Amino acid sequence: MKCARHWLDCPSSLTHGNMIQRVIFTREDPENPGVEGAVMRNIESFARAYLEPGVSSVPHVNRGIQETFFVVDGEGILLTDDGEQPIRQGNGIYVPPDVSHTFINSGNKPLEFVIVVEVVPNGTEVEAKTALISNYCGNPMGIGHWKFLDRAVFAGTPNELIHDRKNRMVQRHAVLVVVMDPMQTSDSHPHTTDKDEIWYMLKGEGVHVVGEEMVIHKPGMAIQVAPCSPGHTLINHTDEPLMAFYIAAAVYRVEDDGSYTRVLEPLPGSRAAKK
Ligand SMILES: [Fe+2]
Repeated sequence: MKCARHWLDCPSSLTHGNMIQRVIFTREDPENPGVEGAVMRNIESFARAYLEPGVSSVPHVNRGIQETFFVVDGEGILLTDDGEQPIRQGNGIYVPPDVSHTFINSGNKPLEFVIVVEVVPNGTEVEAKTALISNYCGNPMGIGHWKFLDRAVFAGTPNELIHDRKNRMVQRHAVLVVVMDPMQTSDSHPHTTDKDEIWYMLKGEGVHVVGEEMVIHKPGMAIQVAPCSPGHTLINHTDEPLMAFYIAAAVYRVEDDGSYTRVLEPLPGSRAAKK
């Protein structure tokens, strides 16, 4: 399956000085089609990373970039201009542009992250001026696609992370942790081609059907559902619950009445482009 990659099969590099990362997916580049993992439309990169015990990252400031982290395992400290804040498994961390941030692994095992990097368009007014820390365990539970139980990692304003007020565009997000009980199946549903939807398996496993392909979705594997396929379903065929990190991103236009209209930018040659 073209849009399924295990993080350990991806090339490694350094980020934030001392974090070892493996970039799983990047934004598609029409000038260079066929690059492995270059399958996203709205997100620059989706990576898995870790800091070794006792190691700190180098203070890092992003210009024109926002980052969303999810702590997959371990514990540590986030250091910003506001001081030190403890972080641990289950925390989501949103870092807006121009905010210095340093991670310190204060535990005795690797501090492991998922990292989502997005470009913030020039002229965009980002409401958050400091790093935000959330824990999905404290957020309300929802039900999605019949059999998923989900809790938002970020809800409310950070759920619409990129606000481009000048152009009245909003990049809307769902950032969730999803749980699915044993022997359950979700409904099969289509996606529009302008949306990025990534499933990263944290615990357990399932059968993920994407279009006419299927793969055993194991921990450490990420699947980008759209735009590579018109639809998908996830089946927990095991006798253990599965748990996944989920992020979806699509760009909307803000109308005069405050409502949102999805901005469709179908891929050349895609089903939507042919309509
Ligand atoms: Fe979906």
